[in-house]
Amino acid sequence: MPNKLARAVRVSMHNDNALKIGLFGANCSSGRAVTLLEERWSGAWKDCLALARTADDVGIDFMLPIGRWKGYGGDTDYQGATLETVTWASGLLASTKRITVFGTVHAPLFNPLIAAKEFVTADQIGEGRFGLNIVCGWNEGEFDMFGVEQRDHDRRYDYAHEWIDIVKRAWSIDGNWDYKGEFFNLKGVRMNPKPFGGSHPITMNAGASANGRTFALKNCDAFFTSATRTDPERTAERVRDIKSEAKSYGREIDVYTVGVVTCRPTQKEAEEYHHYATVECADWKAVRDILALKNISPATVGQETYEAQRRAYANGMGGLPIVGDPDHVADVLAGLTAAGLSGIGISFVNYGRELPFFADEVLPRLQRKGLRAARNGRI
Ligand SMILES: Cc1cc2nc3c(=O)[nH]c(=O)nc-3n(C[C@H](O)[C@H](O)[C@H](O)COP(=O)(O)O)c2cc1C
Repeated sequence: MPNKLARAVRVSMHNDNALKIGLFGANCSSGRAVTLLEERWSGAWKDCLALARTADDVGIDFMLPIGRWKGYGGDTDYQGATLETVTWASGLLASTKRITVFGTVHAPLFNPLIAAKEFVTADQIGEGRFGLNIVCGWNEGEFDMFGVEQRDHDRRYDYAHEWIDIVKRAWSIDGNWDYKGEFFNLKGVRMNPKPFGGSHPITMNAGASANGRTFALKNCDAFFTSATRTDPERTAERVRDIKSEAKSYGREIDVYTVGVVTCRPTQKEAEEYHHYATVECADWKAVRDILALKNISPATVGQETYEAQRRAYANGMGGLPIVGDPDHVADVLAGLTAAGLSGIGISFVNYGRELPFFADEVLPRLQRKGLRAARNGRI
């Protein structure tokens, strides 16, 4: 029998860091950088494996993959080569010791019992370090290739409620059980083994709509939302609202955000590289195609908003741009904790090349600010 593993330990990602830092999007070609640059991320397995091992060594808390099934087009076919996230997580969990690795799973595409068993398998491999990001579907075109019709927006989250309910039952109920809901009618269900250590994996969601947010607050441990660099008070207010809405459902939730980091020895170098990667060498055709998928065009939103959206998507598909020298990057990250955020999923143009500098220069600054334990400071 494995030792007992408390849920609180999983939710805190097995450590005391006040600001959790994860790597977001490394299972996809180009990661989150819509750029033509030669050194853009490959997303290949051997690069992911080397990255995860380095991340594990330097004390990064989590890896969060993107559930994406086909490329966005453009000159690079942005995110055109992606590794399936639960198998990816299993491989990484087998090769690491401390880091939490998420799978990002489209509830409408996976039978919940098969999914629950995959999660248990990954969690057993990682001895309690698997995490689940539940997504309901973002890009309509992706569902067509499966022959699966996307439900309308509200129904998506109704369905996801039943789906996660079934997964959690499979993780916890001993013996046989039935389930009769609006979307599922299951008979004589029995599932063993259970997740590692007698507790459930950490779960997260990043719904942006009112329904998506309510789903996350009622069902998940962590909620990802956007943060604004220009107005920390607005971010703090948003975090307070989210936490108080969760309380109204009798729940506690950790709030996270996503960011795109360019960190160089000097501010000038960081800004120049950032401009080079995301303006001069942006894959503008891919940006145009991404925006078209979301029905964002000068005709639908007006030229000014369209230009702002183009810039945001070229800069890593949205997310907080954090560009500067190590002092600046550490200060921005510290500001997120001050706003009440529990952590951030970050991306780099080339995760493997850029992580060591970030780990050597930014993480110690965060330690000195009292936001992170020394490397590998586990509970
Ligand atoms: C951090 C983060 C990770 C996400 N990961 C994925 C993903 O991998 N696959 C996907 O289809 N959608 C992903 N999404 C989209 C959300 O799940 C959600 O569908 C989107 O924010 C729109 O919100 P809504 O569904 O409430 O309209 C992600 C969003 C964020 C902010």
